[in-house]
Amino acid sequence: MTNAPLKVIVTRRLPEPVETRMRELFDVELNETDEKMDAAALVDAVKRADILVPTLGDVIDQKLLAHAGKNLRLIANYGAGFDHIDVQTALQRGIMVSNTPGVLTDDTADMTMAMILAVPRRLREGTVLMQRGEWQGWSPTALMGHRITGKRLGILGMGRIGQAVARRAKAFGLQVHYHNRRRLHLDTEAALEATYWESLDQMLARVDILSIHCPHTPGTFHLLNARRLKLMKPTSFIINTARGEIVDENALTRMLRSGELAGAGLDVFEHGNDINPRLKGLDNVLLLPHMGSATVEGRIEMGEKVIINIKTFADGHRPPDQVVPSML
Ligand code: DGY
Repeated sequence: MTNAPLKVIVTRRLPEPVETRMRELFDVELNETDEKMDAAALVDAVKRADILVPTLGDVIDQKLLAHAGKNLRLIANYGAGFDHIDVQTALQRGIMVSNTPGVLTDDTADMTMAMILAVPRRLREGTVLMQRGEWQGWSPTALMGHRITGKRLGILGMGRIGQAVARRAKAFGLQVHYHNRRRLHLDTEAALEATYWESLDQMLARVDILSIHCPHTPGTFHLLNARRLKLMKPTSFIINTARGEIVDENALTRMLRSGELAGAGLDVFEHGNDINPRLKGLDNVLLLPHMGSATVEGRIEMGEKVIINIKTFADGHRPPDQVVPSML
C-alpha cells in the first residue's frame, strides 16, 4: 500500500456530511447529478477506482467485474443487502466486498411495524378518501379494518431486522412466530416469546400476518411462490420490506385481486421500480418506494460505516463489515 490517496468512486449521491468527510479523507469522485450510472459509466469506474462505493440498483456482476482494473481492491457497498453484487466473482478476482449492516435495523423495523398497522387498518383507503374530499363524516360501519392485538405474526428470516420487528410486535400484543434457517438460541426465543417453525409451509398456514426479513439469495428467490402463497389464509396479510424477488409478484397480485389474500404492504418489488401495474390499483395494497431505511440518521450512519470500512482497509486490515463466503 502506497501513501497516495485512494481513488474512491461513489456511484450515487450520499448525504452531505458523508460526502464531505469522504472528500477530506480520500481522492473521491462524487456523483453530483445523482443519476444512476449506466453500464459504460460503471465500466469506467471499475477500471479507474481503487475502491468502488456502489449501492442498490448498481449491478456489479461478472461481466462488469471482468473490466475491473488491477487497482480495484474493495467494493464498499452503501447498503446492507448485497444481492446486486456478484461477491463470489469479486472474491475470486481478489476484490473484497463490505456492506453496512446494523445501522438500518431499527428504521426498517419501524417501517415494517408501520405497515403491519396500516394495512389491516386500511390507512391507505382512509387517506385517499380524505384527499379526494369524499369523507361524509363518521359512520359505525365505515372503513372497518382488523384488530392487530392477539393476531399471529409470522416472521420469515429472524436476523437483526426480524428480531427488531419481533420486539415491536410483542409490544403491540401480537403472537410472534418465525421461520429461519437456524433456530434462535432458546434464551433469545424465550425473551421474544417467539414460536419457531422448522417448516415454512406449516407456519404460513397458521399466521394472520407474514413479514419478510430474509436476504435475497438464489435459495430465497420466489421462496413465496404461488404454491406457498396458497397455503396462507384468505384473511391474511403480507408485508415485505426485504427484497421483492423473494415473492412471486405476479402470483401475489393475482391472489390479492381475487381475494385469496386480504392485503399487502410492499416496500420492495420483484423488478425494482418496474411494478406490476395491477398492484397499483388495489385498495388492499399499500405500496411504498423502498423507503424502509430512509431516515437522515440511518443514511448518515450507513455512510459512516462505508468510511470505516474503507479506512480500515486502507490501513491494511480487513474491513469490519466484510462480506464473507459463509454469508452468501
Ligand atoms: C439495504 O441497505 O440493503 C436496504 O434495502 C436499503 O433500504
